[in-house]
Amino acid sequence: MINRAVILGTGSSLPVRILTNVDLEKMVDTTDEWITSRTGIKSRHISTKGEETSKLGAEAARQALNQAGIAPEALDLIIVGTMTCEMTMPSCACLIQKEIGAVNAFAFDMNAACSGFLFSLDMADKYIRNNPAMKILVVGAENLSTRTNWQDRNTCVLFGDGAGACVLTGNDQGRGLLSSRLSSDGRLWHLLSMESAPSMNPELLRETNSGSFIQMAGRDVFKYAVRAMEDSVTRLLADEQIVIEDVSLVIPHQANIRILQSLAERLRIPPEKLYVNIDRYGNTSAASVAIAIDEVNRAGRLCRGDLLLLCAFGGGFTWGSTIIRW
Ligand code: ACO
Repeated sequence: MINRAVILGTGSSLPVRILTNVDLEKMVDTTDEWITSRTGIKSRHISTKGEETSKLGAEAARQALNQAGIAPEALDLIIVGTMTCEMTMPSCACLIQKEIGAVNAFAFDMNAACSGFLFSLDMADKYIRNNPAMKILVVGAENLSTRTNWQDRNTCVLFGDGAGACVLTGNDQGRGLLSSRLSSDGRLWHLLSMESAPSMNPELLRETNSGSFIQMAGRDVFKYAVRAMEDSVTRLLADEQIVIEDVSLVIPHQANIRILQSLAERLRIPPEKLYVNIDRYGNTSAASVAIAIDEVNRAGRLCRGDLLLLCAFGGGFTWGSTIIRW
């Protein structure tokens, strides 16, 4: 019997402060109507003091451990999908390890932009298939507000902060992560990017460094995101001999309501099976799918044996899809 990674517990953490579209109207030349109709976003959570990326991640992790009934000391591995940790070194995973007291784990970050949580889940599954007794914490945590140009109306209306987490271990009863399909295309990096801090080596200082803000060609990203996620899901389901009608719920990365609607139309996903919370959180990058899984889990929307389909797309480009038997 194959051992697969099964989710034992989930958690999520959102900053206290809420920034609405009406608040943004006072900051840049925009309107609630424009943001709502173009993106589906009404409000997003924005971090303040004490809500650093690792702190949000640690709170989500505590909730997931609590629900799983697992002590932090029992964790073997922590993987964190993020591109906005408050430190570049140490990793966000090590900071979360310290916060929760997971003294027996090894820990590292996964930078796959908005696909980071799916890439991390897949890696956790690979470890577990090799060693089913392992207990692994997978976190998606982002503070995109720290890397947003708050003067740029093209981007600042889109993003939000938050974290989600899952605790996983091996299961040989047919449940868990059935399969993932992951892809990247570095040739298209320039369509969605974020510079790092300017180089201290003058020889390597990039004159084109635009500051550590998220930059994107919105229309191109839109087009690629829809096509790439559609292709990924179609191939994944075909490989697993699953038809979309068998899937109980689809949780896509929450980038833009129009991307989600377009994807749902192409894949023939009925509205009641498409999970959407972008109206409340905006795009939280690697955290978005993780937060949604926790909401779905706590609301009891999935029954044992249900098929849950995840998909994501982000900078790199990176994208992928994952099918889980709950
Ligand atoms: N308020 C008012 N007007 C705005 C705003 C704003 N916040 N932002 C842009 N505009 C204006 C533009 O300046 C432009 O004006 P112009 O015609 O006078 O030049 C006009 O609105 C249309 O701009 P477009 O960029 O063509 O608008 P579009 O319909 O493509 O919507 C958006 C822009 C929402 C960014 C869309 O392209 C999109 O969602 N793309 C996907 C990108 C995405 O989701 N990125 C997230 C990161 S990647 C990921 O997570 C998948």
